[in-house]
Amino acid sequence: MEKNSKIYVAGHRGMVGSAIVRELTRQGYNNIITRTHSQLDLTRQAAVEQFFEHERPEYVFLAAAKVGGIVANQNALADFMYQNMILEMNVIHAAWQNGCKKLEFLGSSCIYPRLAPQPMPESCLLTGSLEQTNEAYALAKISGLKYCEYLNRQYGTDYISVMPTNLYGPNDNYHPEHSHVLLALIHRFHEAKVEGRAEVTCWGDGSPLREFLYVDDLANLCVFLMNNYSGNETVNAGTGKELTIKALTELVAKVIGYEGRILWDTTRPNGTPRKLLDVSKATNLGWTYRTELEDGIRLAYQDFLNNPMRAER
Ligand SMILES: NC(=O)c1ccc[n+]([C@@H]2O[C@H](COP(=O)([O-])OP(=O)(O)OC[C@H]3O[C@@H](n4cnc5c(N)ncnc54)[C@H](OP(=O)(O)O)[C@@H]3O)[C@@H](O)[C@H]2O)c1
Repeated sequence: MEKNSKIYVAGHRGMVGSAIVRELTRQGYNNIITRTHSQLDLTRQAAVEQFFEHERPEYVFLAAAKVGGIVANQNALADFMYQNMILEMNVIHAAWQNGCKKLEFLGSSCIYPRLAPQPMPESCLLTGSLEQTNEAYALAKISGLKYCEYLNRQYGTDYISVMPTNLYGPNDNYHPEHSHVLLALIHRFHEAKVEGRAEVTCWGDGSPLREFLYVDDLANLCVFLMNNYSGNETVNAGTGKELTIKALTELVAKVIGYEGRILWDTTRPNGTPRKLLDVSKATNLGWTYRTELEDGIRLAYQDFLNNPMRAER
């Protein structure tokens, strides 16, 4: 990308899209175009075609998606599949038809099989059954990354995809059914501290292992890949480091300054025992994450406090 290349970031008000805009701006890219959801509904094919014909962006980061947690996914399987699939197909197809030089598609690690080897390499895609709870979302994401691959193979385009692990950071969305584990913990412990509660009870036994990437690091990788990677296989985005939910919980409590007791309700489900991405591909390309978890949690907590809407709920 040149500094004045026309770059469209789809989903720029979301957690990932806003981080990509911050990173592009930080690196001096000065011709970024955006549209809010209400200005351009990406599920409307005619509107998307019109937008691309008119703007003809040279580069596209596709970070718009209908996103949600387990409950939201389970309750709306059809909506998750329909909206994500239509949105992706509209954007990728219109980009290609209007001469977009390179497109980067954002997916998620839930595209990998439920029983994938740990850490999960990119090559395990489509080698087994998916997790049932988010199958619809995962199938839509797999279709998007496969459509990029098929355009490359049939028409010689240079469209790539990236699959992030659990993300956290500014603009994370707080909603009881949609929030991500780290923001949910921040919210919980912040409330417990403010209300002076003596104990906080968490679900499960705290043993599952998880990986977390600060969203600004993901954005840095996205820009890096746009400039340095071409290929049909996706690229995993993570730190390659994992910790137990118990250790994560203690870290969040420490950052927030909550001094009460942490209890574990072992009658509640634990979820998958381990979920870690193999990040050797990104590492071999010369990229690595920068933000250590404790520092990132501090930044995410600051963002939470700076957003009174979230902190009050
Ligand atoms: N956050 C994570 O932990 C995580 C982890 C792995 C992968 N990812 C991937 O990263 C991508 C972005 O996720 P995110 O966390 O940034 O989600 P997000 O905060 O919910 O942002 C998604 C954005 O897309 C927009 N959007 C949704 N439907 C649209 C439509 N029909 N037309 C136009 N805009 C639309 C939303 O606008 P409205 O809010 O106005 O609808 C929102 O601004 C997704 O592909 C997701 O799978 C995220």
